Amino acid sequence: MAGVYIHIPYCRKLCSYCDFYHIISSGDNSSSIDAMLKEIELRKDYLNNETVNTIYIGGGTPSLLSVTEIETLLNQVYKQYSVENGCETTIELNPDDVDPDYLAGLKRLNINRISLGIQSWRDTDLKILNRRHDSAKAEYALKETIKAGFENVTIDLIYGIPGMSIQDWNSNLDFTFGFDIKHLSAYHLTFEKGTVFWKMLEKGVIKEVDEEESQALFNLLIEKSAKAGFIHYEISNFGKPGYFSGHNSNYWKQINYIGIGPSAHSFNGYSRQWNVSDVKGYIKSINSGKAFYEREELDTKARFNEYIMTSLRTMWGIDLDYIERSFDKEGYDYVVNLSGKFKDYGLMRKDDKHLILTDQGKMISDNIIEEFMMPGEN
Ligand SMILES: C[S@@+](CC[C@H](N)C(=O)[O-])C[C@H]1O[C@@H](n2cnc3c(N)ncnc32)[C@H](O)[C@@H]1O
Repeated sequence: MAGVYIHIPYCRKLCSYCDFYHIISSGDNSSSIDAMLKEIELRKDYLNNETVNTIYIGGGTPSLLSVTEIETLLNQVYKQYSVENGCETTIELNPDDVDPDYLAGLKRLNINRISLGIQSWRDTDLKILNRRHDSAKAEYALKETIKAGFENVTIDLIYGIPGMSIQDWNSNLDFTFGFDIKHLSAYHLTFEKGTVFWKMLEKGVIKEVDEEESQALFNLLIEKSAKAGFIHYEISNFGKPGYFSGHNSNYWKQINYIGIGPSAHSFNGYSRQWNVSDVKGYIKSINSGKAFYEREELDTKARFNEYIMTSLRTMWGIDLDYIERSFDKEGYDYVVNLSGKFKDYGLMRKDDKHLILTDQGKMISDNIIEEFMMPGEN
C-alpha cells in the first residue's frame, strides 16, 4: 500500500497563519502542472510498484485548478502507478471556489472525499485569518458539497484564534455538528515564523491564548465531538466510524508515500525527501529531467523518534510489539521504563501491547512526546 500527495502551490490570497509553501497565482498554472505530470512519470519507480490506496490533492489551494487540470493530474497517476479500485481520493477546496458546476465536475472524476477549509464560522475570525470567504459562503459551500452527493466530507477548523472566546468556539462546534460531515480536523492555532500572525505577535498587536484557555478549548472539542459521534483518533482529527482519513493514517503508520509538486515530501521507510520550495526552480529542474530535492537518510534513532512522534498522537498509541521488532530490546526497555511515570500521573495508559495517551495526556502531548525522543544527533 502507498499514498500519493500532490501539492498545488497556488493561492489567491495570503492567510495570516499559513506557512505551507504557496505563491500568489497569476492565473496560468499550466507550466507547473506540466512539470507535475512529468514528475509523476519521472519518479514512478519511487513506490516500487506498490498499490496506491490514497491520493490527496492539497495546497496551497487546489480549487484554483479547473476540473480538466485536476483530471489530467489524476489520469497521469492512474497511468503511471497501480491504483487500487475505490482509492480514497481527497481534494482540498477553498469554500470561496465552490459552486454546483465545479462540484459536479469533481464528482465525475474519481474524487470521493472533499476537504473544505472552513477554519471558522465567524466572520470576525475569518477576517483576522485573512480568508477569502465569509461565513455565509462557508455554509453555502458545505451545503452544496453535501447536495452534490459527496458523502465523505471533512472540514478544517482552527481554534485559539485571537479574539475567539470559549463561547464562540462552542457555537462553532455546535454549528459544525449540525451538518452531515464525516470527519473534522481541528487545529489549535500555531504561530509560525514568517507569517503575518508571527509579525503581529512580535509587535504585540495580538497575543497567544494562555495555557488554561487552550486546554479548556481542547476539552470542549473532545467532549462535543464525542457527543456528536466522532472518534478522536488523532490529536487534531475526529472521524465517524469508518471515516478516518486513510491518507493521514498512511503517514502515521509509516506507509510509503510520494509527494509531487513544489515543497512536497516523500517517504520510503529509510529516507525522507522534500522537493524544493520554489515553483520556478522546481519547473526548471523537472524540465531538465531530474527532480530537485533534499533528502534525509533516517538512522535508527531518527526512525524511532518519528515513530514516537506520530504514534503517540493517535488513539492506537505506541505498539510495543512493533517497537521490539524494529528497535530491539533496548528500544522496548527505554519506552516501557519511561512510560511508568506518565502512567502514574494518569497521562498514559497501557492497553494490551499499546501505550496510549489519556485525554489528560493529550492536553500536553507535545511535552510528553518531547520526553520520549531519543536525544542526540539524528
Ligand atoms: C495546508 S492547509 C490547507 C489549505 C487550504 N487550501 C485551505 O482552504 O485552507 C491545511 C490546514 O491546516 C490548518 N493550518 C494551517 N496552518 C495552521 C496554523 N498555523 N495553525 C493552525 N492551523 C493551521 C488549516 O486548518 C488548514 O486548512
